[in-house]
Amino acid sequence: MFLTMKATRLYLFLHIVLTAAVQVNTFDPITTTVVIGIGATLGRTIYNYLHERCDSKWVAFNATGLKVDLQSKLVGQHIASRIILKAVSGFMRNDNPKKPLVLSLHGWTGTGKNFVSKLIAENIYREGMESSFVHVFTSTLHFPHPSEYPTYKSRLQQWIKGNVTNCERSMFIFDEMDKMHPGLIDSIKPYLDYYDKLDGVSYRKAIFIFLSNTGGDSIIKTALEFWKTGRNRDEIELKDLETSLSLAVFNNNQSGFYRTSLIDKNLVDFFVPFLPLEYQHVVQCTLAEMEARGLKPNKDVANKVAKDLVFFPKSERVFSVKGCKTIVSKLDYYT
Ligand SMILES: *[C@@H]1O[C@H](CO)[C@@H](O)[C@H](O)[C@H]1NC(C)=O
Ligand SMILES: *[C@@H]1O[C@H](CO)[C@@H](O)[C@H](O)[C@H]1NC(C)=O
Ligand SMILES: *[C@@H]1O[C@H](CO)[C@@H](O)[C@H](O)[C@H]1NC(C)=O
Repeated sequence: MFLTMKATRLYLFLHIVLTAAVQVNTFDPITTTVVIGIGATLGRTIYNYLHERCDSKWVAFNATGLKVDLQSKLVGQHIASRIILKAVSGFMRNDNPKKPLVLSLHGWTGTGKNFVSKLIAENIYREGMESSFVHVFTSTLHFPHPSEYPTYKSRLQQWIKGNVTNCERSMFIFDEMDKMHPGLIDSIKPYLDYYDKLDGVSYRKAIFIFLSNTGGDSIIKTALEFWKTGRNRDEIELKDLETSLSLAVFNNNQSGFYRTSLIDKNLVDFFVPFLPLEYQHVVQCTLAEMEARGLKPNKDVANKVAKDLVFFPKSERVFSVKGCKTIVSKLDYYT
């Protein structure tokens, strides 16, 4: 999709350049100079047209788009869906936010945390996740060695500062936040706070998204209690999860959040819980993936894929261990 978009633009560019070149050949020197002059102006226009800039042509929030995407593409996450839509829409509508938007997404693997970040990016940036204003940091990839954290720290601070200087509507996604060095988390704290400006740079229009498994266990516990008492999953409300979630995040000494004051300073605007996914959700994810691949959605295939996955707890087999994560490779096998 991204490649095709780029290819189309490149084609358009070459077409215009070649047409101009053919015309230049048939003119006398004076006309040639004029044509080249026009060509240069045209070139600049084309460059601007092709090159992503930090303006409303490239960065424009589509509230309807986000709403439709969350409703139709995100599977089994009624709480997350509602919080994200409200939080992002409210923030993007505000021309003068007092601090950057900080979202902390929690839940077990494969429940849709990365996917939601992608949906947010796609409805703010024309280039979506490929935008040069969207930055993804994965702890184990970008900051793997605890001993090198002083280096990581200054590098990360420079990156955030440099990128927000380029575009105040920048988005930073931190994956595996639970594996991040607490000192590194502390080092980004100033950017999340209520400062008008830091060293002449305002961070108040940026978006920070933290992804982690932290609190996943407590969310699963609540979801399982609902299931055991025969209550509908859709009846789970944020307040059913909020207390146990923030306790788990705060008291878990294994997690990167531990000993950081992100939480007690209220720098995180929203803690967003992602529920564990059930059999029916895996079927839905598989059908959606088939559609995305241009295949005819097939319930039999979707059921085969879902039956292949491992569910827990052992006795009840309610929730998919890897959520919807491994269906992509399973689908390759069955189609
Ligand atoms: C916003 O999203 C809606 C729903 O996906 C879409 O129909 C519409 O064209 C989008 N608007 C813009 C300006 O991209
Ligand atoms: C922006 O962030 C990227 C990492 O995503 C980094 O490579 C780049 O150098 C940063 N840009 C500036 C101007 O700091
Ligand atoms: C982390 O917490 C567990 C129990 O909650 C405890 O047994 C362990 O000693 C703690 N580890 C550290 C490094 O504080």
